[in-house]
Order: sequence, then structure tokens, then C-alpha cells
Amino acid sequence: MSIKDLFSKMAQEAKASEIREMLKVIKSGDIISFAGGMPDPALFPVEEIRQIAADVLEQRPGAALQYETTEGYERLREELFKFMRSEGMQISSKEEILITTGSQQALDLFGRALLDPGDTIILEEPTYLAALTAFRMQSPRILLAPMDSGGLDSGALRKMLEGRRSGSKIKFLYTVPTCQNPSGLTTTEERRKELVDLAYEYGFVIIEDDPYSYLSDGKNPPFIKALDDERIIYTSTFSKILAPGFRLGWLAASEDLASKFAILKQSLDLCTNTLSQHIACEFMARGHLNKYIERLKPAYRRKREAMLDALAENMPDGAGWTRPTGGMFIWATLPPEFDTDKMLPEAVSNGVAYVPGSSFHPSGRGKNTMRINYSYPSIEQIWEGARRLGHTIKAYGTAL
Ligand SMILES: Cc1ncc(COP(=O)(O)O)c(C=O)c1O
Repeated sequence: MSIKDLFSKMAQEAKASEIREMLKVIKSGDIISFAGGMPDPALFPVEEIRQIAADVLEQRPGAALQYETTEGYERLREELFKFMRSEGMQISSKEEILITTGSQQALDLFGRALLDPGDTIILEEPTYLAALTAFRMQSPRILLAPMDSGGLDSGALRKMLEGRRSGSKIKFLYTVPTCQNPSGLTTTEERRKELVDLAYEYGFVIIEDDPYSYLSDGKNPPFIKALDDERIIYTSTFSKILAPGFRLGWLAASEDLASKFAILKQSLDLCTNTLSQHIACEFMARGHLNKYIERLKPAYRRKREAMLDALAENMPDGAGWTRPTGGMFIWATLPPEFDTDKMLPEAVSNGVAYVPGSSFHPSGRGKNTMRINYSYPSIEQIWEGARRLGHTIKAYGTAL
């Protein structure tokens, strides 16, 4: 018997994420990567973190290096509670907040806590790949709601739900409503309201995954968590507004749900990294967070504008792309005969990488689409990478 025969069914079915596999290749070589979703490391607030880390270790080393409760460091939960309230979200106490090991852990907990095999979930299409991977561990049935320039098309979703004669219970709708990963699209206020109505009509909860709204330039529509309390589970992360290496995120949900998530978290990691929690807490308490966000916004705006200009100059006729107000991604659509999975090796050999759009489509559609990241490459790399990408697409199109 081979060692591989020992794998559980779940492990046998788990496949490596295409993005992660690609990132490995890209690290080795002169390839400009539009593939990952990483912040610009030149923008990390290193000085503030250095100072805070020194102070924390000087003033309370015993607490900062100790185990923490599973729910998370009290003062950090308090800071997040105030922060969410100041953003207009509906939350009644810090007991509704659970600190997580990145928001990825929150996604995993949602699947564990809410799904039995065969339960139904609603995802937007395209959707965030790592959420799909986490939810699939629980073998759900998936309903796909389409997106357009106004974000998740709640009207189309309503029709789908009305036309559904039977089927398993719908447990949740998962959405990234602001500057979505992968599309960059933002769901309008009207549609957000309709989604809340649907949640009540059909008895499901909405998971609002929100890593990017704080980096948006425009005036965002209200958080879904600002429209309703009971049926909205909110999650966000310090990964894009501090640094992903902290592995720090949080979720906010009604106390019943939050305490169940905490019980399930115990078997995953007992608690989130305590030192990270203390540093992030001080970062907020000293007023650095809002100032840092204001520093990030223009820096990412410059990169986004560079990418939009570079695409306009280099993409062939027939290609289109989104114009996000923030986040880290632009979504490009090529004419229908293109297959961006097949084109990727050519792009990589021309020295540029992207993520093929099919990865974000549970239905297998989206063959002619791609996700383009602009937060990580430098402005020079954005221009050179767009030139290489345009050249690849034109050559591929000519050979079709
Ligand atoms: C939509 C979305 N959700 C969740 C995450 C996970 O972030 P983290 O685990 O670093 O908090 C990401 C990261 O890119 C994301 O784009």
C-alpha cells in the first residue's frame, strides 16, 4: 500500500491552487507578475511597526508572547468594534467580533460552521478562488449569481431563486461587494438592499468579505453590514491595510454565531498570533491605521491609473477591462475565441504573468478573461508588463 492510499477522501480531492503554483514559477526568473494579490512591500509601515514592536516587548512581554483567548485580545476587539461603528456598521458589542488568523480562516470557519454536505450556497461569478476552495471542503451545491458593471446582479439572483422548484436549504450567499477580487467591481447600494431582502425572504445569511473597501478612492456604497445586523456576517483583514505577514483578520457576526465560530477555531489554532494582535492593536490605538490608509490610497491610485493607461495603449481592439475605484485588481475580457489558460505559457515565455479567468468561474466559463494585479509591480513594471501582455495577446490572436 502506498503512503498516498492513506489520504482522506477530502485530501485526495484537494488540488493545489493554480495561483499558488504559478507564483512559485514566477518567483524564479525575469517575469513581471500581474498574477498575485500582494501589497506593495515598499509601502509597509516599517518604522511604525518597529517602534510599536519595541514598545510592546518592553511594556508587556508577558502578555504579548503568551497564549491569548480564542476570541482574541480584548483591546484589539475593542478597537475593531469602535472602528466598525465609526464606519457605520451595525454591531452592538465587541463580543460579536472574533479575531482570526487572516480572513482566510474566517472563510474556512464559515464553511465548517454552516455547511453539511449537499447544502446550497450562492456565490457570485466570478468569485474569490480561495473562498471557493474553502467552501468546497464541505461539498456544497453551488448556485452562481452573475455579475455585471453594477456588481452582483441581485435581480438575476431573485429570478433564479424564484425559479428554483426544490433543492437543499440555502445556507449563505458569499460576496465581496466592494472592489471585488477578482473583477474590481463594486455592487450598487440598490442591489445590496435587494440582497438583504432576499436573505430574509429565503432564510439565508450573507457573508460580506471586505478586504478592499478601505483602499477605495470613490465614495463606496454602504457596507451590507450597515444595512442589517442579524443576517450579515462581516469579515475583513489587516493584510491589505497593515501587512499580510501578520496573518490577522477578524469577523463580526451575531453573538450566537460568533461564539460557535470561536469553538470551531479552537481546534484549528487555539488562538491567533498574540504578538501580531498586540502590534495591530497599538497601530490602531495610536491613530496610525487611518493615516496609513490615507497614505496607501494615492499610492495605489497612481498604480491603478498607470495600469489603465498602459492597457489602453497596449491592448488590442476588442479587449475590454474594468475601471475599479480601488482594491488591487483589474479584470480584462478578450474576444470570445481567446483562451487565456492556453495563452498563459506564451505570456510567461514573453515575461509576464496573469491569472486566467477560468480559475474564478466554478461553471468553467470565463475562458476569455483574466485577472490583472496592479498593487505589487512597480510603475515601470506595469508599463513593461502591459507591453509584453499586449504583444502576447496580439500574437495569439493572429495565430487563431
Ligand atoms: C476577497 C478576499 N478574501 C480573503 C482574502 C484572504 O486574506 P487574508 O487571509 O490574508 O486575510 C483575500 C486575500 O487576498 C481576498 O482577496
